[in-house]
Amino acid sequence: MAAAGSAVGLGNIWKFPYETGANGGGAFLLLYLLFIVVFGASLILAEMVLGRASGQNPVGAFRSLGGGRWPLVGYLGVFTGFVILSFYIVIAGWTIAYMGFMLDGSLISGDAESIGAKFSAFISGGATPVLLAGLFMIATVIVVLGGIGKGIERASKLLMPVLFVLLLVLIARSVSLPGAGEGLRFFLVPDWSKVDGGTFTSAIGQAFFSLSLGMGALITYGSYLPKTTPMPGSAAIIVGLDTLVALLAGFMILPAVFAYGLDPAAGPGLTFVTLPVVFSQMPAGAIFGFVFFALLFVAALTSAVSLLEVVVTYLVDETRLTRRPAALIAGCICFGLGVPSSLSQGAVDIQIFGMDFLTAAASLTDLLLPIGGLCTALFVGWKLGPKSVALVTNNGTQRFALATVWLFILRFVAPIGIAYVLISGML
Ligand code: PHE
Repeated sequence: MAAAGSAVGLGNIWKFPYETGANGGGAFLLLYLLFIVVFGASLILAEMVLGRASGQNPVGAFRSLGGGRWPLVGYLGVFTGFVILSFYIVIAGWTIAYMGFMLDGSLISGDAESIGAKFSAFISGGATPVLLAGLFMIATVIVVLGGIGKGIERASKLLMPVLFVLLLVLIARSVSLPGAGEGLRFFLVPDWSKVDGGTFTSAIGQAFFSLSLGMGALITYGSYLPKTTPMPGSAAIIVGLDTLVALLAGFMILPAVFAYGLDPAAGPGLTFVTLPVVFSQMPAGAIFGFVFFALLFVAALTSAVSLLEVVVTYLVDETRLTRRPAALIAGCICFGLGVPSSLSQGAVDIQIFGMDFLTAAASLTDLLLPIGGLCTALFVGWKLGPKSVALVTNNGTQRFALATVWLFILRFVAPIGIAYVLISGML
């Protein structure tokens, strides 16, 4: 359940709808689902195996099981975790602001255009979004440092079903709006003319990001998993829940986007502009809105915790730092890297690779996660080889019907497929 909490987060509700919107709709959805089924499920299991076999952080896992240059894959993962967390806290900070905006009514009055203008004014506001990102970072550090970890676990067991129900309510609202049908068509009917190499890279990046895959989060969580827990079943639950929530978010956002005449390709603001419009035209919208963003905050927190946990376990295992300073130092560096991300949303013109800083960081992770996944597939498929099947089945005491298929995917399909997607995307 902790791994499912890691997977379900902003990636599903913020990133998935806007990536789908920006990449032409149905065709992107199909590619994303394909990558989830073929690479995602197998690689989740591969990462868990590394955790179970080594009982260590990603760097330690690759070192103890492989040696040589393999720990580089672990270092790549820790670095990727840093980059993700740096912009993740910015978006999560927006959810804090939105709880306030829902309660004071400032964002649920007016039409789509004026709500869009208020959103832009907020994210380009400079200090406030930066401070909220800092606040979210502090919350994450507090949870990782223990004390309330159990509380979070209990809270999310209760709150995630509530989020689920709320998504269903909002979907009902969204699809019944006049003009919603066009959004459904956009989401579900593939238009291949809109697909190019970039669509493939975005879809594979989204698949990995959403599943928390390719940077060692699942190695770390796998290392905590009791030997008796059947791993294939756990992997299936993570994939199933995560994909379900992403699909629900798509059904919630895209029909409303079309019904209100918004631009599906608007980018990272899509969810944050569309939902307030939905809430503003709904009975008790302010309450629904507040509860929704509070739940999104918790979902983001359980994901951010897994990101920070990777960095912290690495620092604790591999350096002389103890947990407390490790978490504080990592939190400060992430926040430092988050500041330009936040400011690049309108306050200051900070560009790298011709993109604003936040978009550049997000695009970089779309590339780094699949690279991490590719290396993990090679490692578990070839270096560990059939031994990895024994690890999954706990030395043959548990069933794993798809063992041969799994090994074949790790050895051939995933490395060749991921390399092909990344190279064709770059070309
Ligand atoms: N999967 C998380 C989300 O969808 C983000 C994440 C990525 C968390 C990688 C951990 C590792 O929001």
